[in-house]
Amino acid sequence: MAITHPSFGVMDPDRVIVFDTTLRDGEQSPGFSMNLEEKLRMAEALAELGADVLEAGFPIASPGDFESVQSIARRFAKDGPVVCGLARTAPADIQKAAEAIKDAARGRIHTFVSTSPLHMRVKLRMEPETVLDLVTASVTMARNATDDVEWSAEDGTRTEMDFLCRCVEAAIKAGATTINIPDTVGYAVPEDMFRIFSTVRERVPGADRVVLSTHNHNDLGLAVANTIAAIRAGARQVECTINGIGERAGNASLEEIAMALRTRHDAIPVSNGVQTKHILRTSRLLATITGFDVQPNKAIVGRNAFAHESGIHQDGMLKDSSTYEIMTPESVGWTKSSLVLGKHSGRAAFKDKLKALGYEVGDNAMNDAFKRFKDLADRKKVVYDEDIVALVDDEVVRANDRIKLVGLSVSTGMHTRPIASIALEVDGEQREGVAGGDGGVDATFAALRVAFPHEVNLKLYAVQSVTGGTDAQARVTVRLEEEGKLVDGQGADTDTIVASARAYVHALNKLLVKRARTAPAGLDQGALASTTAA
Ligand code: KIV
Ligand code: ZN
Repeated sequence: MAITHPSFGVMDPDRVIVFDTTLRDGEQSPGFSMNLEEKLRMAEALAELGADVLEAGFPIASPGDFESVQSIARRFAKDGPVVCGLARTAPADIQKAAEAIKDAARGRIHTFVSTSPLHMRVKLRMEPETVLDLVTASVTMARNATDDVEWSAEDGTRTEMDFLCRCVEAAIKAGATTINIPDTVGYAVPEDMFRIFSTVRERVPGADRVVLSTHNHNDLGLAVANTIAAIRAGARQVECTINGIGERAGNASLEEIAMALRTRHDAIPVSNGVQTKHILRTSRLLATITGFDVQPNKAIVGRNAFAHESGIHQDGMLKDSSTYEIMTPESVGWTKSSLVLGKHSGRAAFKDKLKALGYEVGDNAMNDAFKRFKDLADRKKVVYDEDIVALVDDEVVRANDRIKLVGLSVSTGMHTRPIASIALEVDGEQREGVAGGDGGVDATFAALRVAFPHEVNLKLYAVQSVTGGTDAQARVTVRLEEEGKLVDGQGADTDTIVASARAYVHALNKLLVKRARTAPAGLDQGALASTTAA
């Protein structure tokens, strides 16, 4: 029997709904917080990628979370993906989520409660019957606010099967239209997953009228395998994140699921709406926003995912690429490194190139990016696609930063103490700082602390080259720590010291977002003032 879903209508039984939780489960992991503009930009990219549902945040968690979910709902007020807000069982949670999603063309409330013996006893301190009552009450309340309601059994894969079935039945009776059984702690193996979903489908009255959903964490590296096993057992919604970001070891990665479904359609004959050629761009946007690059060997989006080093492999590739490639790099958005523009290229050619690389940028961002491109073309003999991507990501992502790097000069060399002089714009106000240090980078960071006094620990400093050659752009990552909170910043430039300063400033901006998140509403300005007063 085909399912009639409030947001998707009569559903094709073989269509899998892609539920992206990069902005909620992904964003809540250490170091990955995003500001409102960054979330909106990610939401746009995810919509273009073809995600069916965006879990935009946890509205009760903070005023910032509420605002992000509401803004994303307003962005998709006419059409676009379903916008979802997370809520626990408390009425205040559900009310906040309802308010946050109400302007979306299609809005969803996702409410959850723990159902495993361990979580009920230790975390909730509740009897199973009380939890069962909460399932009914929370879903009923959510359903009174919107037709599209998802219910999740937190720690579902460690829940006793009989109790799980009773909870799922109660949620369906109360009006849930999607039932999610998460592997919250990443404990399950694919056989468990297949058994759990098959049993729920067989045993629970009404399970054939709702969408069953799978949500897997990657603690044992099995999140994608478990997702596929659940689909084989009848799940028709997959919950996932770009680059697999998320709590602890992360969530199932959207790009890996999408490409497994596409490449092995023979084995898993289901469809989905992901436009795979946008995958790389979305992955890179997230890496730039969060400051966390994926590891080089990451499937689909890692730098080496389509690189062939061994002579035997290269020989095979030259004869026929299918000898060692099971999917084409182009199918996920990789382009061959090509010589693109030079210092004589004009604005129109630059705009065309951006379009070919998948960027639609506004006029202001375009002007700034073009200026930086011209500057880069003056300094660098050849400008590759990768250079343009690094530059535009840098420009667009930083458009709303409160601290901006506006000038830097460093004098360094042998037998001389390096001195850096830096100019910043902080909330529109000009600041300057001069300091010496052990090398140009150290002096630059010291000058930054003079211009914008703050106390943080530098946890990581890493430099990578965007392309080959001594004139290549350096991409620098800086990780800062403040009271246990970690943030990563990135910056690119042909000059490693300038790239380092950009990365440090990016990380500082992320720290300000973090502070604003944790401070009670309204204290944001005060928090900034207190750090700058010293
Ligand atoms: O992992 C989990 O159980 C969750 C729920 C809120 C769905 O993220
Ligand atoms: Zn989760």
